[in-house]
Amino acid sequence: MAENFDVKLDSKTYIPDPSYLENSALGDYKKAYAEFLSDPDGFWAEKARELDWIKPWDKVKEWNWPNARWFCGGKLNISANCLDRHVKNGRRNKLALIWKGERGKEEIYTYRQLYRAVMKFANALKELGVQKGDRICLYMPFVPEHVIAMLACVRIGAVHSIVYAGFGADALHSRIKDAEAKIVITADVGIRRGKIVQLRSIVADAVRNSPSVEKIVVLSRERCPIELYSEMEVDFYAIQEGVSEECPPEEMDSEDPLFILYTSGTTGTPKGIVHSSGGYIVGAHYTSKYIFDIKENDVHWCTADPGWITGHSYIVYGPLSVGATVLITETTPDYPDPGIWWSLIEEFGVTIFYTAPTAIRMFMKVGEQWPEKYDLSSLRIIGSVGEPLNPEAFEWYYRVIGRNKCPILDTWWQTETGMHMITTPLGQPMKPGFAGVPIPGVVADVVDKEGNPVPPGQGGLLVIKEPWPAMMRTVYNNPPRYNHYWNQIRDWYTVGDLAVKDEEGYIMVIGRSDDILIVAGHNLGTAEVESALVAHKAVAEAAVIGIPDDLKGQAVKAFVTLRQGFVPSQKLVSELTYHVRMTIGPIAMPSAIEFMDKLPKTRSGKIMRRVLKAKELGVDPGDISTLEE
Ligand code: WT7
Repeated sequence: MAENFDVKLDSKTYIPDPSYLENSALGDYKKAYAEFLSDPDGFWAEKARELDWIKPWDKVKEWNWPNARWFCGGKLNISANCLDRHVKNGRRNKLALIWKGERGKEEIYTYRQLYRAVMKFANALKELGVQKGDRICLYMPFVPEHVIAMLACVRIGAVHSIVYAGFGADALHSRIKDAEAKIVITADVGIRRGKIVQLRSIVADAVRNSPSVEKIVVLSRERCPIELYSEMEVDFYAIQEGVSEECPPEEMDSEDPLFILYTSGTTGTPKGIVHSSGGYIVGAHYTSKYIFDIKENDVHWCTADPGWITGHSYIVYGPLSVGATVLITETTPDYPDPGIWWSLIEEFGVTIFYTAPTAIRMFMKVGEQWPEKYDLSSLRIIGSVGEPLNPEAFEWYYRVIGRNKCPILDTWWQTETGMHMITTPLGQPMKPGFAGVPIPGVVADVVDKEGNPVPPGQGGLLVIKEPWPAMMRTVYNNPPRYNHYWNQIRDWYTVGDLAVKDEEGYIMVIGRSDDILIVAGHNLGTAEVESALVAHKAVAEAAVIGIPDDLKGQAVKAFVTLRQGFVPSQKLVSELTYHVRMTIGPIAMPSAIEFMDKLPKTRSGKIMRRVLKAKELGVDPGDISTLEE
């Protein structure tokens, strides 16, 4: 999509009840933003002081474009901030995690129980030889042990790289290999929509030709002793027998890496986004407390999986750092029926609910009778993330789930930003279609390719002009790919999204400006799907585009040319779809595959996806002078 377009900006405004502003931790947005601008380092130092530091920092930030260091010289441990701090300070018996499994099973962990469980598993990892700085890959179902494994890694200074357990063996393999993971933590099976997923056999495939992997820790999903299949495997609970229950937190430098999380890029290989310890937790803590406004009695439910950045920042690190009660569940929104999520809100008295537009649109489609069956009056704040929340979905969410009362926090951010960047802070008027304004701490704008601000109503590129604590520090093994974010428009961080501002500075995010698709809230590179397709023996070339989809926002459509000896057939469509599913995972499955004799290309041989898209949507393809024929 090009960046020059116009948008009509009239939008209904929703005014929240004044009590939200009165009781919010942030207070008046404009005042907070002005305070930040008058002393940015002082603003962040004040937020950082709310956490426990083993040694305070000497300097808030050092900015050597494009590299930032935050809270320089400071030492801390994130697991100590998420656990020890609360155990010591009166939240010892408070519920940290409430887990509801797909088969109705429940488990709870108080802060003390979680603290104990984390220390034991951390010691077990040490016994396996894990040392500070080692990379550990997690490929797990969403059970409490997933959170325990994350916190155990950070307790001993190991760097976790979580791979969503819906990814296939190839995607897992490439991530294990790139991160040179020493240990893979998985489970025998996962359960999704009532079906058993054999995670362990996917891991067995993925670790072939991954010489860095020494051990595979296998959790029994039913917590019963399991048979080990190879020398490499060890049992999650058996390795904890007899280990010490005390594990002091490793002293981490503020700039020590906390985790790697892979995200799709415009080339076929995913990028390992590296986050730091000090800056990341300050960002996650600040936004959990001042943007989500999490308070002592809140029950926080973010429906993401820990395999995505949303799960890292707003299931685990942010909410636990503020000492919240967090609901976690492996349920999908419509299994066994589309009432399941609303029943959980009623059952556990959820007060803050955070989900994705794709789920909201699915609920709109199946009808209001589902949420109407349940008492949702505990809800105080409802949030959205992952893709634009279109005005129709906003209105439905506000009326049916928020009962015309709960403010909607439509939060714009990215794997790379680590924390919320743009939203409509509590108490501010909400405008459907607009994510909102840069939060205090963030300097964002919409500009043209040269960096000039564009007038209200005119499309442009979203940029972040100043570093922020939770920004990624690098792309693992690939610093040039990191630099690329910072050297496209002046010396700013180019987000890769198209956006529009209105007269009041509210920002509407339109979508990606590059070859990345957002399918049901998941970031997917067209190149990733294309390389999966061409790896199939029948495929000569492939081009992938996003097409509008009522539910998923965008769906994947693939255009494919075949190798000699293969002919188009429905069977081949199914085979290729299945092949993509097995290589990348279900989210990447094309919803349509069209066979072509030739793909449109530039004279220099670049596939022109734009032409395919225009043809698909029946619109003008724009300038086609570079088209080969
Ligand atoms: C891309 C980042 C942040 C966690 C989920 C996705 C899109 C994200 C919004 C929003 C419009 C949004 C952008 C962004 N996006 N939130 N509220 N409104 N678009 O993280 O996989 O790193 O994807 O998701 O296009 O660049 P991610």
